Amino acid sequence: MKIKKKILLFDFGGQSAHLIARRIKEFGFDVEIVGSNYKITDTSKIAGIILSGGARSVYEKNAPKFNKELFLLGIPILGICYGHQLIAQTLGGKVAKGSAGEYGPSELSVKNSKLFKNLSSSFPVWMNHRDTVIKLPKNFQTVGNTKTTKIAAFENPKLKIYAVQFHPEVSHTKGGVIILKNFLSQISTISSKKLSEPKDFIQETKNAIGNKKAIVGLSGGVDSSVAAILVSRAIGKNLLAVYVDTGFMRSGETKQIKKTFSKFTLKLKVLNAADLYYKNLKNITDPEQKRKIIGKLFIDIFTKEAKKFKANYLIQGTIYSDRIESGSTKNSSKIKSHHNVGGLPKNLKLKIYEPLKELYKDEVRQLARRLKLPEEITNRQVFPGPGLAIRIIGDLTPKKVNIVREADVIIQDELKKAGLMKKIWMAFPVLLSIKSVGIQGDERSYKYPVVLRIVQSKDAITANFARIPFDILEKISTRITNEIKEVNRVVYDISNKPPATMEWE
Ligand code: XMP
Repeated sequence: MKIKKKILLFDFGGQSAHLIARRIKEFGFDVEIVGSNYKITDTSKIAGIILSGGARSVYEKNAPKFNKELFLLGIPILGICYGHQLIAQTLGGKVAKGSAGEYGPSELSVKNSKLFKNLSSSFPVWMNHRDTVIKLPKNFQTVGNTKTTKIAAFENPKLKIYAVQFHPEVSHTKGGVIILKNFLSQISTISSKKLSEPKDFIQETKNAIGNKKAIVGLSGGVDSSVAAILVSRAIGKNLLAVYVDTGFMRSGETKQIKKTFSKFTLKLKVLNAADLYYKNLKNITDPEQKRKIIGKLFIDIFTKEAKKFKANYLIQGTIYSDRIESGSTKNSSKIKSHHNVGGLPKNLKLKIYEPLKELYKDEVRQLARRLKLPEEITNRQVFPGPGLAIRIIGDLTPKKVNIVREADVIIQDELKKAGLMKKIWMAFPVLLSIKSVGIQGDERSYKYPVVLRIVQSKDAITANFARIPFDILEKISTRITNEIKEVNRVVYDISNKPPATMEWE
């Protein structure tokens, strides 16, 4: 019998170990993600090794531990970001803090290498590092550099060891998929694998929940909608969907959700909890505290509703990127507490079931299409669980929420008119807590600025600001300052992720 070999992926705590795994699975390989200090006992089952990115420095005292013997096994190795630095440092090279960080897009120039087969001599790559390799190990050669990073890719083809400082797994690296494919094709021929069908998810849910009752927090976003519909197809009337209007919803949202879901055979309960949310968030300005309070209130409400419905399970639409950014995968650092992951109390009586927890947003959208959900859900712009509350810097008042709500309507309206909606991941306003001087109707004004944030992304892990034509930006800006009396200035956020995140809080 032929042993099925897999790729072993060492997780050093970066944001993208699972994204790498996913790309590799798409080529038909089995992947196992293991902790950084995993010890290989049986090499016969391992076809290749990938060392992923990570938030630490390879030279720091408590850097993630790992076994150096990896390099003696004769198995092809690819190091990415932290993995790149780890290979250099471990094999006798040197890593140091760079004089400048390199976060976001960069242009890579490459030399002849198997890794860059079928790619041009220079192409855009996505970087996210401060540390840099300054000296190569013996018998290794540099095969790629950027303006900032002299050693951005290096290799020893005889040993089949390759290392890249940039992230081939993210969509912003133009030839990223080809690079991974080039690495893998040294190991075996490549086939491509299909995504799971809705029926697999439905069956899995049936197996997990059986004839027990469950409630699902439905926000109307694509994730919770897909989770609700999948689970309702699996357990029918035993599911109750609860929609909480926190007071931080977008304009007309609650009405729209009632209308959309009235077309499904789904038990839906709509709760107006705005007063409760405002009361608990009074004078709270810290973003993490806001998220924690909102998350806790959600859980309190769901627990109460579950008790009434006699439910054992709480279904959540958590997807993979929510989990890595909340620091819930091993070694990953915590960026934000996504409300559906961060606020769960230890003594929660309900069992949590998250049918989409291994999926990325584009996979969830694919699943939504396969489930024949309407376009308004399938293509719905992402909206964070904490809602407009995390788009207001500082304390929350109904007046401030209204400013953001009105600005949001204008932004969506103008982008729709310009036919740009399909090209972007999300567009939204952020209200700052400062004021600035302006001149309106020949008079001095002293009012809030609104930040306009429009981003493009494929997987939520990385993003870039959208290059919207100036005349459209101008239309949005003019309408916001004309129609919202509390605002006299609009600024456009031109930061990518990293170094910024999409939301401001
Ligand atoms: P960031 O701001 O972290 O956001 O770059 C990545 C994507 O996730 C959305 N987001 C959230 N979604 N609960 C959610 O369900 C949350 O707490 C949350 N925070 C951010 C964000 O809108 C973006 O699309």
